[in-house]
Amino acid sequence: MHEKDQKGKGPSRRAVISAGAAALPLAIAGSYASRSTADASSNGKAAPPTLAGTRAGALAPRPDYVFSVDKQESAPLGVPVEALLVNGQNPGPEIRYREGDMFRVLLQNKMDVPMTVHWHGLIVPNWMDGVPEITQLPIGPKQSFFVEYPIVQAGSYWYHSHFELQEQSGLRGPFVIEEKRPAYDYDHDVTCFAADWLNQSPAGIVPQIRGEQPQTEAVKEPTGDLYNLPGANKPFNVDVNYPGFLLNAGSNKDPWTFACKAGDRLRLRLINGSTATTFRVALDGHEMTIIETDGNPCEPVTVDNLTICTAERYDVLVTIKESGSFSLHWACLGQANQVVGVIHTGDVKPVPNFERPDFSGRAGGLPDYAALRSPYDTTLPEGPIKTFELELGGMMQKYLWSLSGKYYPELYVPESVAENVPLNIEYGDRVRVRLTNKTMMVHPMHLHGHFFRLLAKPGNWGQGNAAMKDTVGVAPGQHVDFEFLADNPGHWFFHCHNLYHLAAGMARVFHYGINRVFARAQEVTVTCP
Ligand code: C2O
Ligand code: CU
Repeated sequence: MHEKDQKGKGPSRRAVISAGAAALPLAIAGSYASRSTADASSNGKAAPPTLAGTRAGALAPRPDYVFSVDKQESAPLGVPVEALLVNGQNPGPEIRYREGDMFRVLLQNKMDVPMTVHWHGLIVPNWMDGVPEITQLPIGPKQSFFVEYPIVQAGSYWYHSHFELQEQSGLRGPFVIEEKRPAYDYDHDVTCFAADWLNQSPAGIVPQIRGEQPQTEAVKEPTGDLYNLPGANKPFNVDVNYPGFLLNAGSNKDPWTFACKAGDRLRLRLINGSTATTFRVALDGHEMTIIETDGNPCEPVTVDNLTICTAERYDVLVTIKESGSFSLHWACLGQANQVVGVIHTGDVKPVPNFERPDFSGRAGGLPDYAALRSPYDTTLPEGPIKTFELELGGMMQKYLWSLSGKYYPELYVPESVAENVPLNIEYGDRVRVRLTNKTMMVHPMHLHGHFFRLLAKPGNWGQGNAAMKDTVGVAPGQHVDFEFLADNPGHWFFHCHNLYHLAAGMARVFHYGINRVFARAQEVTVTCP
């Protein structure tokens, strides 16, 4: 168990990070394990990286991280399956930068299939967004791709493959950007990255749901005492009955643990890096104060537990009350299962508590978006308003999922119904989106390349302090309203982050260029003296 222990070393976050890195040896190609090890390994002199076929010799930019992606057997739940792993790790290594840094990662595809990596929540130039066929060609077998962009934000994010079902097979990991001036003091900065895992190839899931292949346990209706959305009177539907989950690199057999002192204040970065799981998260004996969501600060809200949809992130502060061992439960909705990690004080052995928390009568669910408020005014600048009313729908018998009646040409969408009809906007638009969920499932909807203002109450476009997010879960029958400023031209994917819903069509693309900028420029008359 101690292999996964992260021993904090006092209040310096840097110390915590390097301790974590030492405890999790990175199997990294070349000498570019991380910025610090790369610096140390070359006597201060940077050996020029070999970037075959890209830029030559000493002028080549030096990557801070090298991601070597390969097929490899992995058995986090005891059953060996073929996984797609970054540097042999499941999930992939944490990327950690500081606000204002330049992002430089070398992606090496060692596999015999194409891949891409998307930086979830990052405000990137469109061509660095990592979506195959929308912003780049897939990185072919044995090819490399150098990703470089300025980091213009801080917070908790993640990365994942955007190619077919690779994310489910392990090509995903946490991505943290530390603020230059954190708004709160804390003793430890702790990443809690949760993921779902299959003891079989994800390629069987949709054909099995559709009845085209014999069904395995993974697509059978879950039974037992299943958690529901707070306040909902219908059962919570899931697509996949997962055999288990991972929290960082731990599972229930070998849980992730973290040691600290009584009285320490922890900043937990709760990242739902799952493929199709909604988690309800609670820490035994402690309340948590939410300070950020999807990388954006929010007015502190103290909760006893919270629901986190696929791809969402919440940063919470927790002060460890006393000496002891406290389990962090990631309990999934609609399944009788959870993954547990343990936060303990150094004087006490970590003892996982596998009893599932009793959430009956406790708040902490999706409708609590209404409690999220930005600490600052998020009103968009003046500009033309463009409104889209988009319906989340589908055809259940065929397992096809649609966005506003269209099935995006993805893996499981037959050509006869596949349509890529862009949502056209213009630079400078204030884009208002109303989502209506006409289905019986939750859809975690994600917009690439932008943050949006999530209204606490649908229709209240004048709300000044609407929370900024990049992913929002829409419960069955619910409306959600958000708006964003079109200030980052390109082709931006907007889709359900349940990977099986995306692969079955639930996506559209926002398109815009800079024509309006040129038109404006031409209106300006410059008089020379
Ligand atoms: Cu996490 Cu299309 O993204
Ligand atoms: Cu969905």
